[in-house]
Amino acid sequence: MSKFPNLRLRRLRRTDSIRNLTRETTLSVDDLICPIFVRYGQNIREEIAPMPGYWHLSLDQLPREVNEIANLGIHAILLFGLPDSKDPKGSGAYKSDGIIQNAIHTIKKETPDLTVITDVCLCEYTDHGHCGILEDSQVDNDQTLDLLTRTAISHGKAGADIVAPSAMMDGQVGAIRAGLNNNDLIELPIMAYSAKYASSFYGPFRVAADSAPAIGDRLSYQMDPGNTREAMREIRQDLDEGADIIMVKPALAYLDVIARASREFEEPLCAYNVSGEYSMVKAAEHLGWIDGNRIALEVLTGIKRAGADIIISYHAKEAAKMLRESRSA
Ligand code: PBG
Repeated sequence: MSKFPNLRLRRLRRTDSIRNLTRETTLSVDDLICPIFVRYGQNIREEIAPMPGYWHLSLDQLPREVNEIANLGIHAILLFGLPDSKDPKGSGAYKSDGIIQNAIHTIKKETPDLTVITDVCLCEYTDHGHCGILEDSQVDNDQTLDLLTRTAISHGKAGADIVAPSAMMDGQVGAIRAGLNNNDLIELPIMAYSAKYASSFYGPFRVAADSAPAIGDRLSYQMDPGNTREAMREIRQDLDEGADIIMVKPALAYLDVIARASREFEEPLCAYNVSGEYSMVKAAEHLGWIDGNRIALEVLTGIKRAGADIIISYHAKEAAKMLRESRSA
């Protein structure tokens, strides 16, 4: 009976409304987190060359940006900062009047309900571009933990709603959880970049954040792209240390890792649709080879279908606009 010609799968594809009724995965603006790059200066809205449609914004430009984001119905932003100076210990990351701390104040005054998530890492702030302290040209794990913890605490004190450690140091989630708890920040959630791969897809971001390592690479702390079991160990470890939300990053070349993580773990799962994934779409769109908007929605739907509950994406604003249009159509 359940065979052609009785079985005709096209029956449920006949009309828009039947397709809408039977769709298994629906992308929503509720799923999206929009990254922002903030810097010092006045009146700066400077396009990031390898990320068309993305800008470096000075603090005074933030009100306009966050209002636009909030008006599109997006609930959360992820903040990255460019400090005014760099040093070996990345002190710009954890000083109380650093670029991120300032940006949080500005944003909270403007759009108090917008969830402000901060990236907790040192690579934008160290003069050598590594995510931690260097000792004999090696990134020293345990010395770095203290600085990451100080960074997370200072973001929390400035009013961040979620902190997101991305340095891939062992024990960073536990150290940060303990530090937050000791500083009246027991309610501040941690979104852990748990399975973060050593990926060339971060290339455009490193231009945007001026954070490429001056010497060497990140292979000794970020994950090897061939590994999936290890990703599950990273996630389990972060959960044991107190992560509230877990993450797989990048997304597109790692959809299998997202799918496996969503099967194996019960906690909210985030995926990061990273800079290189965005830039490839924009480049092909610019060349007239693809419909960038529709591809962006398809990509985001694919990441969600793989199992992500939350998606960080540079496409967030354009996706929010398209989702709104499709609702009012
Ligand atoms: C900081 C950090 C990076 C990204 C997010 N946080 C870069 C890196 O690890 O080199 C990449 C984001 C992107 O490519 O969009 N460590």
